[in-house]
Amino acid sequence: DYEGSLRPKTLREYIGQEKVKERLKIFIEAAKKRGEALDHVLLYGLPGLGKTTLASIIANEMGSGLRITSGPAIERPGDLAAILTNLGDKDVLFIDEIHRLNRSVEEILYPAMEDFCLDIIIGKGPSARSIRIDLPKFTLIGATTRAGMLTSPLRDRFGVVTRLELYTVDELKLIIKRSASILNVEIDDAGAIEIAKRSRGTPRIANRLLKRVRDYAEVKGDGYIDFKIASSALDLLDVDKLGLDNIDRKLLETIIFKFGGGPVGIDTLAYSIGEEAETIEDVYEPYLLQIGFLSRTPRGRVATRLAYEHLGIKLGGLDIEG
Ligand code: ADE
Repeated sequence: DYEGSLRPKTLREYIGQEKVKERLKIFIEAAKKRGEALDHVLLYGLPGLGKTTLASIIANEMGSGLRITSGPAIERPGDLAAILTNLGDKDVLFIDEIHRLNRSVEEILYPAMEDFCLDIIIGKGPSARSIRIDLPKFTLIGATTRAGMLTSPLRDRFGVVTRLELYTVDELKLIIKRSASILNVEIDDAGAIEIAKRSRGTPRIANRLLKRVRDYAEVKGDGYIDFKIASSALDLLDVDKLGLDNIDRKLLETIIFKFGGGPVGIDTLAYSIGEEAETIEDVYEPYLLQIGFLSRTPRGRVATRLAYEHLGIKLGGLDIEG
């Protein structure tokens, strides 16, 4: 599938996250030299920044097998035990949304990560006994949107803890050009930059927008993507010049019109726009903070002058009710 083929397979092909790549390259090389499994790695950062891609690159660079699962998919301790006992030597186990593991499952994970063993209770009541099963040496790669959502005993068991940052427009431009060449789409620099600017710092969004712009270019033009085609296609998708969508705009307009520009508490804001506070914090807010449209104060969120300007709203002289 396209999503699969667009993912880079090696650290060399991977664009951006220079610090993360530099560290991983050293740790991978050292582990391989010693003939050991790589230490457990915790990747945290917003959705779409490449956590799953990095996990598969790590497995590939280690020459190891990869097993992918997620926190919510592992319901009972037995589910995790089945996964762990089926791993091969030095395999990589990727657990997405690892903060959503339930407690009883998480407790199985501690001895597995630390001593590569499982303590299993067999039977019930007075005849119950505990047996210990040795596991292969494996590498756990955990992914989460915020490292702070992990319990500290779990977080402390990762040897490498690394944060993925939003990508720059320049990096996204390179990713778009790379993807375009894999998809056999012709695109010029101005076209790639226009898509990059509207991708909210996120490769997953960049690749998705590229595919929609390609559709538009094939139907409305001759398939070639330049600035004009990219710009018209993205306008049609309601993705504005900075990649803000309707919910971003609603969020900012709510702060400005309903709360006089802020400060407003996150829960009040969430209630007003009908989204969960957690979704605002994990999905919408980080990009708005990054581009300087929103600031966080101890008393709540405030819309900045840049946000007013972008939305074409005059600062000051507002009716409180809009
Ligand atoms: N596709 C998605 N993310 C990528 C990245 N960081 N580098 C290259 N291609 C990508």
